[in-house]
This record gives sequence, structure tokens and C-alpha cells, in this order.
Amino acid sequence: MAQRTLARYLTEEHRNKGRIPANLKFLIEVVARACQAISIAIGKGGLGGVLGEAGSDNIQGEAQKKLDVLSNEILLEANEWGGHLAAMASEEMDLPHLVPHRFPKGEYLLTFDPLDGSSNIDVNVSIGTIFSVLKCPDNADLSTPEAAEQAFLQPGTAQVAAGYAVYGPTTLLVLSVGDGVVVFTLDREQGQFVLTQENVQIPADTKEFAINMSNQRFWEAPVQRYVAEMVAGKGGPLGKDYNMRWVASMVADVHRIMTRGGIFMYPMDSKMQAQGGKLRLMYEANPMAFLIEQAGGRATTGRRRILDIAPEKLHQRVPVILGSRNEVDRVTGYHDN
Ligand code: AHG
Ligand code: MN
Ligand code: MN
Repeated sequence: MAQRTLARYLTEEHRNKGRIPANLKFLIEVVARACQAISIAIGKGGLGGVLGEAGSDNIQGEAQKKLDVLSNEILLEANEWGGHLAAMASEEMDLPHLVPHRFPKGEYLLTFDPLDGSSNIDVNVSIGTIFSVLKCPDNADLSTPEAAEQAFLQPGTAQVAAGYAVYGPTTLLVLSVGDGVVVFTLDREQGQFVLTQENVQIPADTKEFAINMSNQRFWEAPVQRYVAEMVAGKGGPLGKDYNMRWVASMVADVHRIMTRGGIFMYPMDSKMQAQGGKLRLMYEANPMAFLIEQAGGRATTGRRRILDIAPEKLHQRVPVILGSRNEVDRVTGYHDN
């Protein structure tokens, strides 16, 4: 049997066979190639001179690592010439990047978090890339980067594809084109992503939670209550013992939940109130919420479904609670009271 590569999957193996437009296939393959290049750079580590600070700040005021900048450049360069994109937006750029005039313009918009989990780069812990694809509205004003921002402000329900790469002991590409979630493993010798898991389903219940406990004193009452109940274990109101994990790379925490269930929370807290939360709607929350829902899980801010949010600005931040359905419903329900 022919190898079940990403290209083959996009052409004939997904559930709505043959329904993926050629340009979208090409776009996803180019993003996957870029992730492969990022994976190679990461693999070189100290030998490739890619570790450490870049010496600059991004729009969010965060210090950029060399790999944040390099990964951003790899994604931009890979995607700008192919004729499948109208513009790109990234966590690491103030404004959208328009496709230069010398290249053909396509009908899609791409957003990405080029390197997720920056604090883990220098300590050799899993990191990743997160991306999301939207259709560019027909009447979009792409005359300047400032004007182009408007085209991106679409709710997460409008995503036509989303995915992430995890650079861990193995490099994986986890993808949804709106008909479930599939996982590809990078075969380093062949330089190909090969299909290794289909129809990913997140268990509805879990005994594992992920939250940065150091922020406990800043959380709101519903999350305080929920975490206290989990920590109370068997003798508490939830009647079971929970375990806790926090990698501090959203991709790695989400991938664990994709694999064996769990709940991930970066909830609203009093420290982050002014910014709206910690995680970024367009580069982190929306693509992950799309994938999680496609795998049968749930994703909310505590108060509403993430995918229903009408974005107000490109770099908007939101609280994120996602993962196993029954647990997300429970803590979301506590916000209603
Ligand atoms: P990034 O490296 O793209 O800035 O994202 C980091 C995010 C996310 O990956 C992770 O879940 C969270 O920030 C970790 O935050 P804390 O360091 O506050 O735990
Ligand atoms: Mn991130
Ligand atoms: Mn990042």
C-alpha cells in the first residue's frame, strides 16, 4: 500500500474525499514543510546557534527568543510566493504581512503562533507551532497592513483548517480540515509527514488537569471552586482523585489532552484582566478550540464558546478552558451561577 503521507491524505483519504480545494491542500502542505524546517532548526539546538534571546520584544511586550524570530521568518518565506494566500498574521508581528506585489495573491488568510512554549526552548522541553486558515472576504481591503487587519477579524467558526506541530521526542502534525482530527508523524529519514492516527476522540471524562497553580490567588471564584474540588480528591464533591500536569507549552498540554483526555485552563485572572486573558485568540485559542471540538471536546472562556467570539482586534487575548467535555461543561457551569 502506498504511504499515507500528508499529500495523499489531503487528496483522497479525508472524510469528504476530494472536497478540499487545491489551493487549501497546497497551503497546508507548505505550512507542513515550514514546520519540518523549524523542526530541523530546533533539532540542531546549541549546534545551530538557535538558542537564547533575540534581543527584541514583540507587540505583546514579550522578549523574543531567536527561535521565535526564525520560525516566524520560515513560515513567512515558505508561504508568501505560492499564490494561495492573501495575507498572514503572526503573534510575533505587529501588523499583517501582505503578500508582496511580485507574487500572485490567493484567497486564504493564515495566522500562526510560530513558536509556542518559548520558555521551554532553552531547557529542551516540547514546543510547537500553531496555525489557523480563514477565507479572505471578497471585498477585503488589502491596500495596507493596517487596513488588512479587518479581514482577519472573523470568529473561530469560520476557520477552514487548523493545526499544530509538536516538536517533542517525535515531531507530529495534528490537523483538522473540518472533518475530524488526524495525526501525522514526521519520518525524518524520508522528510515526510506520515498518517499515524485518524479520528482522534477526546474522552468525555478525565482525572487530569492542567493549570498554572502559581496564579491561584488571582483566579475568579468559579475556577477557585473547581480546582479546590479536584484537589479534594475522592473524599470531595467530585468523588475521584485527580493528577496535575503543566508543561507551559500549550501545544504539549493540548496534545496530551488529545491523546488521553484532560482539562487545560488559562482562565481569566485579576492580573490579566486588563489584557482580557493570557492566551491569544487568533493564534492559540481559536485553532486549538477548533481542533478540540473536532475531536469531541469543548472549549470555552468560562463564559462562552471560544469559536463564537467575534474578534475585535488581531492580538486580542482571551481566557481559555478546553478539553474533556464533561469537565469543561462543569467549570463553565460554575461561571453561570
Ligand atoms: P508563547 O510561547 O507562544 O508566548 O506561548 C506561551 C503560552 C502557552 O504556550 C502556555 O500554555 C502559557 O503561555 C504558559 O504560561 P505560563 O508561563 O504563565 O505558565
Ligand atoms: Mn503560544
Ligand atoms: Mn509564540
